[in-house]
Amino acid sequence: MKALLEALKPNDPDRSLALSIDPQRLPAHVAIIMDGNGRWANSRNMPRVAGHKAGIEPVRITVETCARLGIQVLTLYAFSVENWKRPRAEVDTLWRLLRIYLRKELNNLMEHEIQLSAIGRLEGLPIEIQRELHAAEDATASNTGLRVNLAINYGGRAELVDALNVLLDEARDAGRLSELRIDEEAIASRLYTAGLPDPDLLIRTSGEMRISNFLLWQIAYAELYVTETYWPDFRRRDLLEAIVDYQKRERRFGGLKRSELNGKRWSGAVAVPTQ
Ligand code: IPE
Ligand code: IPE
Ligand code: MG
Repeated sequence: MKALLEALKPNDPDRSLALSIDPQRLPAHVAIIMDGNGRWANSRNMPRVAGHKAGIEPVRITVETCARLGIQVLTLYAFSVENWKRPRAEVDTLWRLLRIYLRKELNNLMEHEIQLSAIGRLEGLPIEIQRELHAAEDATASNTGLRVNLAINYGGRAELVDALNVLLDEARDAGRLSELRIDEEAIASRLYTAGLPDPDLLIRTSGEMRISNFLLWQIAYAELYVTETYWPDFRRRDLLEAIVDYQKRERRFGGLKRSELNGKRWSGAVAVPTQ
């Protein structure tokens, strides 16, 4: 948070917005469905790929702002397992843009101590994309700041299927298949996001009110925030507005409001996460 305020000029219009954010109650994990690139381009009579190209700058800005705010994890939905249904030329352009992003941003990632990780069925990606992703992961592996997950060839259902198959394989290899019992921890610790906090805030741009197969398990209690802004127009102000909105919510996790509890104790054995 301090780093963000230091980066803002005294007369920057985002300053008062940033100052209204409580640094003690930041979301630990922000996840974003970056949507609306095609419509952004169409509205300008440009080809869809121009929207994808214009979508790189907000990625850069969002990553940098999250790092400066002191957010722990940012997960960006870049390509779903269903996006292969799109024309070949559009998909190829996305891979080209991803390579450009990785090459151009590496210095910036290092400077901000950002650790990059790709999540999804990476083995299904073109081999040179796999190589570049792994190179960027290796280069940033010992950075200790913001963790950025790029969800590529990602599907929430595919992730669950993969996690369950890992569980089955482990039990089979240990000769314990017949005793296998599954609990929530067994699943959570085999997801691509194992060890990371669940998203507190899920942002979707371009006004669509759907999840589109993103982080199905992890968003059980995420606060949802949908903005009409198309992804290529998403700027630091939009992110700060989403966080301000998030901080106005009362998260109950199935319990009651603090005011309704008034001295009464929680009844049960289930731990209620506090903020
Ligand atoms: C999101 O923008 C980017 C990807 C899915 C890769 P879209 O390409 O889905 O843009 P719209 O939704 O068609 O406007
Ligand atoms: C979700 O957007 C996937 C990404 C943002 C990468 P889509 O544009 O693919 O989702 P739908 O088809 O509108 O649900
Ligand atoms: Mg879309």
